[in-house]
Amino acid sequence: MKVVTRIQEYRKLRPAMAEPLGFVPTMGYLHEGHMELVRRARAENKTVVVSIFVNPTQFGPKEDFAAYPRDPERDLAMLKKERTDIVFMPGAEEMYPKKFNTWVEVEKVTERLEGAFRPGHFRGVATVVLKLFNIVQPTRAYFGQKDAQQLLVIKKMVSDLNLDLEVVPVPTVREPDGLAMSSRNSRLDANERQAALVLWQALSLARELWQEGERSAERLRQEMTLLIDAEPLARVDYISVAAPDTLEELELIDDSALVSMAVWIGKVRLIDNIMLGG
Ligand code: PAJ
Repeated sequence: MKVVTRIQEYRKLRPAMAEPLGFVPTMGYLHEGHMELVRRARAENKTVVVSIFVNPTQFGPKEDFAAYPRDPERDLAMLKKERTDIVFMPGAEEMYPKKFNTWVEVEKVTERLEGAFRPGHFRGVATVVLKLFNIVQPTRAYFGQKDAQQLLVIKKMVSDLNLDLEVVPVPTVREPDGLAMSSRNSRLDANERQAALVLWQALSLARELWQEGERSAERLRQEMTLLIDAEPLARVDYISVAAPDTLEELELIDDSALVSMAVWIGKVRLIDNIMLGG
C-alpha cells in the first residue's frame, strides 16, 4: 500500500495502475461502513484507491469541521488490511490553493433535505468529488446509501457532465442495534448513544406502517415525529418521505419512497434513511 499526498505524484503513478480502478472517497475516521465500500471496490477491480480528505468546503462556518474526528494512523492500518493499493491523502493547500475560484453547483436535488439545512454543503461535496475524480481517474466510484442525497447529487453530476465512470451504490452498514455507522457516532456519550437509536426506531416504524398498507406519507411523517419528539435528547431538523429521484415530498406513496431524517442528538447531527418499495 502506497500513501500519496501530492497530485503530481499520483499523476506519475496512474498510467502504471491496472484497470479497472475502483475508487472510494472518504473523510477518514474509518468504520465498517467505509470498509464495506473498500471491500466492494477490492472485489470488483484490479486497483483500489481510497482518498482521505476532510473537505473544508462542505462544512458551513458554524459546523463541525474542527471537531470532525481524525485518526490517520488507524485509518491506514485498516486500509492495509483490506489490501488497498493507494491511499490519496492530500493537504488542504494541495486541493485548494490560494485564489481557488471554481465551483460545481448541481441544481434542484440539492435544494431540499440536507441542502436546505446545510447551505453550500453540496457545492463543496460536488466540487471536491469532481476534483478527486479528475485526479484519481477511476473506472468505478463507490458511495454509501447512508448519504442518499449525496449519492443522488453525485450521480446527477456524473450524468450531466458526461464523466466517464460508473457510480456504485453500497447499502448502509449498521451497528447490531440498528444505528447507522458514522464517524460522528464517536462524539456521542453513553446516554446520547442510547438516544440515537430513535432514528432507526422511527425508520423501522415507517417501514412497518408501510408494510401494513399505510400509503399516506403525512401519516408516516407524523408517527416518526411523535416517536422522536418523545426522546428528550433528540431534536429534529427534518423528517421526510420523498420521491427517490426528485426528493419532492410525497402525499401518497404509490411505488416507492425515500424516508430520511436529520436529527440532533445533543451536539451531534445524525442522518439516516431507508427506501420503501422500488
Ligand atoms: P464520509 O462521511 O467519510 O463517507 C465516505 C463514504 O462512506 C460515503 O460514500 C458514505 O456514504 C459512506 N458511508 C458512510 N457511512 C456508511 C455506512 N454506515 N454504510 C455505508 N456507507 C457509509 O461522504 C463523505 O465522506 C464526503 O462527503 C465525501 C464524499 C468523501 C466528499 O468529501
